[in-house]
Amino acid sequence: MMKRTHCCGDLRQDHSGESVVLAGWVNTFRDQGKGLVFIDLRDRSGITQVVFDLEDCPDDVVDNARSLRREDVVAISGLVRPREGKANEKLATGHIEVMGQGLEVLNRTDNPPILPDDHEAEKISEEVRLTYRYIDLRRPRMQEIMRIRHDTARITREYFDKHGFLEIETPLLIKSTPEGARDFIVPSRIYPGEWYALPQSPQIFKQILMVSGCDRYLQICKCLRDEDPRADRQAEFTQIDLEMSFVRRDDVLELMEGFMREIFSRLLDHDLGEIPRMPWSEAMDRFGSDRPDLRFDLELQDISEIAGRTDFKVFTEALSKEDGVVKAIRVPGGAEKFSRKITDGYAELARTHGAGGLPAVKYTENGFETGIAKFLGDIADDLIKSLGLEPGDAVLFGADKRSIANTSLGAVRLQVAADLDVIPSGVYRALWVVDFPMFKWDEDNQRWASEHHPFTAPRADQLDILESDPGRCLSDGYDFVVNGSEAGGGSMRIHDPNVQKVVFGLLNLSEEEAKSKFGFLLDALRFGAPPHGGIAFGLDRLVMLLAGTDNIRDVIAFPKTQSGADMMSQAPGPVDSAQLDELQLKVIEQAPA
Ligand code: AMO
Repeated sequence: MMKRTHCCGDLRQDHSGESVVLAGWVNTFRDQGKGLVFIDLRDRSGITQVVFDLEDCPDDVVDNARSLRREDVVAISGLVRPREGKANEKLATGHIEVMGQGLEVLNRTDNPPILPDDHEAEKISEEVRLTYRYIDLRRPRMQEIMRIRHDTARITREYFDKHGFLEIETPLLIKSTPEGARDFIVPSRIYPGEWYALPQSPQIFKQILMVSGCDRYLQICKCLRDEDPRADRQAEFTQIDLEMSFVRRDDVLELMEGFMREIFSRLLDHDLGEIPRMPWSEAMDRFGSDRPDLRFDLELQDISEIAGRTDFKVFTEALSKEDGVVKAIRVPGGAEKFSRKITDGYAELARTHGAGGLPAVKYTENGFETGIAKFLGDIADDLIKSLGLEPGDAVLFGADKRSIANTSLGAVRLQVAADLDVIPSGVYRALWVVDFPMFKWDEDNQRWASEHHPFTAPRADQLDILESDPGRCLSDGYDFVVNGSEAGGGSMRIHDPNVQKVVFGLLNLSEEEAKSKFGFLLDALRFGAPPHGGIAFGLDRLVMLLAGTDNIRDVIAFPKTQSGADMMSQAPGPVDSAQLDELQLKVIEQAPA
């Protein structure tokens, strides 16, 4: 092929008069009769308009130019000139065009099943786009996102290199690491009947690197968790994984905050401003979530004291429960906007979070109306004052055990904000959520489970209640939250093997089990483990925030669908029986249910 001199997004007016060679895909093609053929030629960097005046071209160029179709791959040579007619202000190259002289067809395309057009993409099903991902990725928007992802990784390496971190790879075939999800497992050919697990994260290895004297570790690594994909979750995702020795919690938070500021300022020219540190209990009480979205109000308010003065059964029964509360969200303008159907929908949502329902009421010039208005007579004035109600508002109530009232109203809060369109765009509100509980009670298995993971240290001032009152014991864990998304999570770690044993015990892991699963970590902790802590940011989640998308599949070149399939390569798929024989495995066909 001809030697390329420029990319399709490079040329400007001061290139006028230069002979150039461009190569790329035929984005659009117009044969205008009158001997003029227009090609918009596209590559990763942009689009350039090329005009062939066929009267002046040799026969082979004329034949090639007339036979083109969209997505053919060509190289063209020609002369840059100011664009004849009106400039196209939407294109960086919109003030010039290339007067085509040579045209080399590098490859012809079959009739493309989809076109790499950002507007068209919205109309094409995602499954089809993922099947032909190589065409979909040619879209300018996808190219832009891949660039943001690359820049995020580049700035990450620069920042942490400057702060003395070493990038170290950890293995993919390992013994299980517990992050609360199901493991993907890999059979061993050499040890039939035995299995490797794929890492849910490099957690144990990075801690062992601290025992190894590595001091500061970074890895941009793949993590694999066999859980159902969601809008912000993939089974195979990427972490920016970090660990530091000889640090206190605030040393970690400060350095990581600096990292986030650098990313947002260099990639979005955005100053993250003040980054508050909010205790987990406050986040749950005010926002009903451990990853509160601070871009809008609609806060949960505790009205238990006032609610206790009615004889409305829903309130009184809730308050008679252990840690029972009545909470309310004031929704400005809700009186007009909430139809019965809408509030029924919110009640349904609250039920999926364990609530019995969602009492609601409207407040107008005539006082409380509809819903539970008739039960509020005695407390009306106090309620209006305490919630700061104004005519036109609606109020949604959660009455239950604190945890259920909070989480159900928290989910409703997000839905109301989306429905009323009160979430500002282009705004980023970050915070640290700190002081998580060490454990959460697992009802199904009737035992404690880690809120973060089993290696998270209790806060130093909580050690004395670790064993006596584990439910109240707070950890030294922290999450970095932006706009309601958990962008990162980490903790100070247990570096004392005795404390680690106590925690395993509380998690109901027998000494035997602990030894067989994590014996190597327990051993390492006995041989000179420094105090250490760290965090992992979700690279995909960060790029979602930076690129302004709420679909994680947009930020991964080759993602899996919601049902875990790779549409392009058709994974997962069957393997040869010879492969199974080698592994001494047999597939048992199950009769259809
Ligand atoms: P955690 O499990 O909180 O912590 O994960 C850290 C961050 O990774 C991202 N993340 C995900 N992103 C996409 N798809 C998923 N399925 C997914 N799961 C998690 C989130 C999350 O905040 N080893 C600990 C970290 C530590 O303690 O240092 C860990 O993996 O952004």
